[in-house]
Amino acid sequence: MFRAALTDRLQAAFTAAGIALPEGFSVSVELASDTRFGDYQSNAAMILAKQLKTNPRALAEQIKTALPVDELCSEVSIAGPGFLNFRISPVALATKVQAITADAGCDVVKVAQPKTIVIDFSAPNIAKPMHVGHIRSTFIGDCLARVSRFVGHQVITDNHVGDWGTQFGMIIHGWKTQLNHEELKKHPIQELVRTYKLINAQAKEDEAVLTLCKTELVKLQQGDAENLEIWKECVRLTLVQLEEVYGTLDIEFDHYLGESFYNDALAPLVTDLLAREIATLSEGAAVIFSDGTVGVDDDPFMTRDRETKEWKPLPLIIQKSDGGFLYGTTDLATINYRVQEWKADEIWYVVGAPQQLHFRQVFAAAKRMGHTTEMTHIAFGSILGPDGKMFKTRSGETVGLLEVIEEAIERARAAADEKEQGLSDTEKDEIARIIGGGSVKYAELSQNRLTDYKFSWDKMLSLQGNTAPYLINAYVRTRSIFRKLEGGNVTLTTDVELTEPAEIALAMKLAQFAEATHDVLIDHRPNTLANYLYELANTYHSFYEACHVLNSEGTVRNTRLTLCEATSRVLKTGLGLLGIQTTERM
Ligand code: ARG
Repeated sequence: MFRAALTDRLQAAFTAAGIALPEGFSVSVELASDTRFGDYQSNAAMILAKQLKTNPRALAEQIKTALPVDELCSEVSIAGPGFLNFRISPVALATKVQAITADAGCDVVKVAQPKTIVIDFSAPNIAKPMHVGHIRSTFIGDCLARVSRFVGHQVITDNHVGDWGTQFGMIIHGWKTQLNHEELKKHPIQELVRTYKLINAQAKEDEAVLTLCKTELVKLQQGDAENLEIWKECVRLTLVQLEEVYGTLDIEFDHYLGESFYNDALAPLVTDLLAREIATLSEGAAVIFSDGTVGVDDDPFMTRDRETKEWKPLPLIIQKSDGGFLYGTTDLATINYRVQEWKADEIWYVVGAPQQLHFRQVFAAAKRMGHTTEMTHIAFGSILGPDGKMFKTRSGETVGLLEVIEEAIERARAAADEKEQGLSDTEKDEIARIIGGGSVKYAELSQNRLTDYKFSWDKMLSLQGNTAPYLINAYVRTRSIFRKLEGGNVTLTTDVELTEPAEIALAMKLAQFAEATHDVLIDHRPNTLANYLYELANTYHSFYEACHVLNSEGTVRNTRLTLCEATSRVLKTGLGLLGIQTTERM
């Protein structure tokens, strides 16, 4: 990576110039904000001069003289109050572009210290409606897993499905009285959700129904054979259908350790926490109170009363007075497991912003239990409907992954039918799956995860603009060049010479793929990579308009074909990191 190489050099130049860097001072190099003066820039001399109370420009000069002169930069200049600007040389760029075409991983360096990272994402609840949060979690989580693996981390993906909980009281009662078994075989998730909603509504009206549901739940929790059998069947059928959807989306999990997996660990966990005085008994319940080690403002176990403005305790309940365990209890048992069994260095939770307090409490409790594993809640906002309100179906239901994917593929298929290009039905189906699924994924991943975004079918499926079809089409265009040449059998040679500004601009963009990829993990933001790919596609189109590829010759032709090949690879690899597949034609 040029940025990393320049950072190293700059660091060495400070030493060579005899300037001792103060403790904690880190030299940083960034992409230039204005490329007229260079490709990269650093404000290190300015910041240091301030600390040392010397003249920043003079300090920058001193550093510049101490920088090793070689082929990485064609020019180092000083601008304004002491910015150091670096212009990468065409020779270094040419070498980089060739390296990209020669390496299956597009010459992206691996991290120096690989970690074991558990990523907890998707995690829908069985027999309950899926909502947009599960869509966002699924795509963001999958992308982060792909990027982390790609840069060399050991990643374990775990779908912590909500397969245990009070909803099963209603489901079991519904199973015994309302279920349509034919429908259940065909569309298990939909039929279970239908039953759940029906019974839920009845229980609200009729006390007797509620009592029946509670009785079924208690029987299940006490191990009643019939109810356990029904519960198991609900989970099994749902997972079969879920895995089919994940398959369509090309998403895989290493584990499906749902909440029920931890059932036997919950009672011992509570006993242990009580014994270690991390939890206390309060009105018959086992709860975790604040330990007072942080200020009230930062304390997840304290809350401010809206009216009196007084701070009051907000404990995490781990066992209710009726003996029942809660969501947080399971999460603590899950952390124990992930640390003990998988030796997790980090655990990432890709879950919507409304669960922020839950995770702050769970992480703080885990720390008090002695865990040093780094835990991060990777939160996200909502998806809004085209009207800017909560995203709902026409009948007012919440929209889940299943409905969205189905409709996306249908729409992409209709578009493929319109453009009859001699493709077979099977080919069209495959293209529709790739474009449909890819469009929904890209609409998600090109957004800042923390902001709400508007869901628009027309926008996300459009061939124009920052969309998956646009990027996939850019890839298709790079491939079609090679198909036109010598029956697709072109051998690239090593004579690459970048001379035209459009060639240099494209090479520079290509070189930045590694940086864009690594930057995704700085703050868990897939949109860094999505936006990079969009810029790359634009840069490629400008290059293609400015430079003839097919009717050029010799070194010029080889250079341009190498640029096309590198673009093709980076687009495919980059889209792949977003979880988006490509097609050779569309
Ligand atoms: N099933 C939960 C929900 O739908 C998400 C679970 C997230 N993971 C966790 N370990 N709590 O809200």
